[in-house]
Amino acid sequence: MAFARVAGVGSYLPANRVLNNDLISLGVDTNDEWIVARTGIKARHLAEAGQTSSDLAFIASERAMEMAGVSAADIDLIIVATSTPDFVFPSTACLLQNKLGNKGAVAFDVQAVCSGFIYALTIAEKFIRSGSNKRALVVGAEVFSRILDWNDRGTCVLFGDGAGAVILEAADQPGILATALHADGSHHGILSVPGNVCGGKVIGDPFLRMDGQAVFKFAVRVLADVAKECCDLVGVESQSIDWLIPHQANIRIIEATAKKMGLPMNRVIVTVDQHGNTSAASVPLALDAAVRDGRIKRGQKIMLEGVGGGFTWGAALLEF
Ligand code: ACO
Repeated sequence: MAFARVAGVGSYLPANRVLNNDLISLGVDTNDEWIVARTGIKARHLAEAGQTSSDLAFIASERAMEMAGVSAADIDLIIVATSTPDFVFPSTACLLQNKLGNKGAVAFDVQAVCSGFIYALTIAEKFIRSGSNKRALVVGAEVFSRILDWNDRGTCVLFGDGAGAVILEAADQPGILATALHADGSHHGILSVPGNVCGGKVIGDPFLRMDGQAVFKFAVRVLADVAKECCDLVGVESQSIDWLIPHQANIRIIEATAKKMGLPMNRVIVTVDQHGNTSAASVPLALDAAVRDGRIKRGQKIMLEGVGGGFTWGAALLEF
């Protein structure tokens, strides 16, 4: 059976970088001290009007393909994790496929909110290990700014737009060592965009709503548990992981997770300060940053983790 290994990574953040204090000039009743103390976020990037998830995904994908030394024609599986697709349908994956000039690859979206990239990576790994596909493009791409209520200061300061991508390909050696995915829909009410499409209109509330404290507690509990589950699957001690890349939602959630896993913060990749919570894009954005600045090296053990609305959560342990 083939293994699946990461051959290239890439990411893209829209040019418009918005600092905490810039939000005040946009009319948000907030301040830099509150946001930094509660979340660690200093800046986020916001897409231009008309710039879509597939646009961001396209640039991130090109960068990942360049690092992997492959072209669009070499890819036979495209999975895009997003909760902010360009359209109701067709999928953002199909739109990305068209922008890349690929024809014939399997292409579909995954919707698991902030765990979406971990879900997509896990699915791609299973396609590759089954032998049905050889090279996957796995993307997390979001324009969360479009589903934020800019009058709700408790949520609008937390999120940003962006995309991250990996090329995952068949290999003789791992690769991805272990994955674990979970969901519990009984928690659907603590983080949601409750509107629905009916008669050509969004009926109900079209914006993200969140019980922040409930989300906080849930995230800390499941992120540490699912990391341990992944480690146990292959008999690896969590303290022996070289780098932890958790979902980038909030520095306090990240710190609490690292502490529970017995990992010092100098082995945790943190980018939430620079781009806020980019949902499905957050983990591949952080992975790309740490690969390109030289912290992550070939052969190291990396734990990727996501948690998000649904509730969904998951982890992937890989040897880079
Ligand atoms: N600026 C200034 N003040 C604010 C802001 C803001 N942006 N937002 C809220 N406040 C005020 C509130 O009005 C309140 O004031 P009051 O005491 O006078 O009523 C005070 O700050 C405290 O508000 P809380 O909502 O209780 O603040 P809390 O300490 O819970 O922090 C936060 C809120 C940061 C959202 C926290 O609950 C949290 O980090 N939750 C995790 C949620 C998260 O990270 N979600 C990301 C999406 S989910 C995911 O990705 C898994």
